[in-house]
Amino acid sequence: MAKLYINPKVKKGKINKEIYGHFSEHLGRCIYEGIYVGENSEIPNVNGMRKDVVAALKELNIPVLRWPGGCFADEYHWKDGIGPKENRKKMVNTHWGGLVEDNSFGTHEFMELCEQIGCEPYINANLGSGTVQEMSEWVEYMTFDGISPMAGLRAENGRKEPWKVKYLGVGNESWGCGGNMTPEHYANEYRRYQTYCRNYGDNKLYKIACGANADDYNWTDVVMKIAGRHMDGLSVHYYTLPTGDWSKKGSSTEFDEQVWYQTLKKTLYMETLITNHDTVMSKYDPEKRVGLLVDEWGTWFDVEPGTNPGFLYQQSTMRDALVAGINLNIFNKHCDRVKMANIAQLVNVLQAAILTEGDKLILTPTYHVFNMYKHHQEAQLVDSSLEAELIGLEDNNKVPNLHESVSMGEDNKLHITINNLSVSEAYEVESILAETKVRTVKATLLSAGFNSYNTFEKPDAVEPVEFKDYKITDKGISFKIPACSVLHLEAEVE
Ligand code: AHR
Repeated sequence: MAKLYINPKVKKGKINKEIYGHFSEHLGRCIYEGIYVGENSEIPNVNGMRKDVVAALKELNIPVLRWPGGCFADEYHWKDGIGPKENRKKMVNTHWGGLVEDNSFGTHEFMELCEQIGCEPYINANLGSGTVQEMSEWVEYMTFDGISPMAGLRAENGRKEPWKVKYLGVGNESWGCGGNMTPEHYANEYRRYQTYCRNYGDNKLYKIACGANADDYNWTDVVMKIAGRHMDGLSVHYYTLPTGDWSKKGSSTEFDEQVWYQTLKKTLYMETLITNHDTVMSKYDPEKRVGLLVDEWGTWFDVEPGTNPGFLYQQSTMRDALVAGINLNIFNKHCDRVKMANIAQLVNVLQAAILTEGDKLILTPTYHVFNMYKHHQEAQLVDSSLEAELIGLEDNNKVPNLHESVSMGEDNKLHITINNLSVSEAYEVESILAETKVRTVKATLLSAGFNSYNTFEKPDAVEPVEFKDYKITDKGISFKIPACSVLHLEAEVE
């Protein structure tokens, strides 16, 4: 019997809702087809946004959406995406499949999308190939309320009122696709660009510097040292690749148990990355004023056979569900430093929550995990620990059998999310709550074969169900968690 110790009296900080953020890039069929079909489409839409997708996203309580990239961000010139659509410049999306980008989805459309979903926009601006003036004017265009060239242009384009924009990214992957810079060079560029991104009226920007590629701790060190006091957040990107090798990513659906454990082991590495980046940041910012923002994370597999390699379209199985559950537990547990995370990407790209085909839509296992975990948003992290055992097929790829995080929600309920990483074993778990009595429990389970997934023919092959295999005891809750599953327990306590 595994023991799960929970002390609801020990609160460890607020879990920012932005940890449950998403990312949408002009890449493959994410924006076009996946989200935006245009006003004249036969697919039901409101001002061009797919009704079915927006409804599914509202259900998730998405707090924040990052746009327009990604690598695309440092090639994007925002003025190409405003004004009458017929006059908008067409360009080639060189990064992603050589597609013609007609700029029909631009600033106004993105803001409209955020308004429809009810989330905060996170604008990632162009430092790699854009000018300081361009970035500065974008901020003015979006947020200045008064008489100015950019506010005037915005009004000419049909929007008199400014928008509220809090999150501003200054460059993306500036160590790679965003300009191949050294950390010293980037940090100085960051200081210059961000200077001219002004706070207009009561619109206060939360400025985000480009952070490290995975375990590049030197990048974090240098950027914090040179530019730390000019930023509110520093990003980090880490993708889960089964072998860690970009040339051997493997299929998203055809994999064996060995690859299952390898993948989970790789995803658990997020814990090490966050701990180490936090330590480096604390050299310069021991009060943890600057947030660590994991603004790209998730699985990256081979594209689905027969699809454009530049579109990064992959399926999402129970393996992705576990990757999501584990990462979200890790972010929750590091909420003192991790202030935002954005899974890549929202629709039809990488570890997508939603897949579309024409007018059809499916919700992936990843979507269901976000839906089950949404109760952690703005909740207080609660002290918890598990007596886990190590499982797996190879000595160098052992993983804990169980993985959890616990919070006390704004609804005053205890939310326990626990993952069973075993492909074959169910486990009895006894949760022991210090000085707390459990009154009622409601639970939801996502469980299926380890490579199960939803298809357009069978969209409900993997779906959450009500879970009843638990008992309220004197000490807490006992339950048996099935193999390969994600479980959410919601407890009323006294
Ligand atoms: O999410 C796909 C790509 O991965 C992004 O454009 C880039 O920032 C990262 O390398």
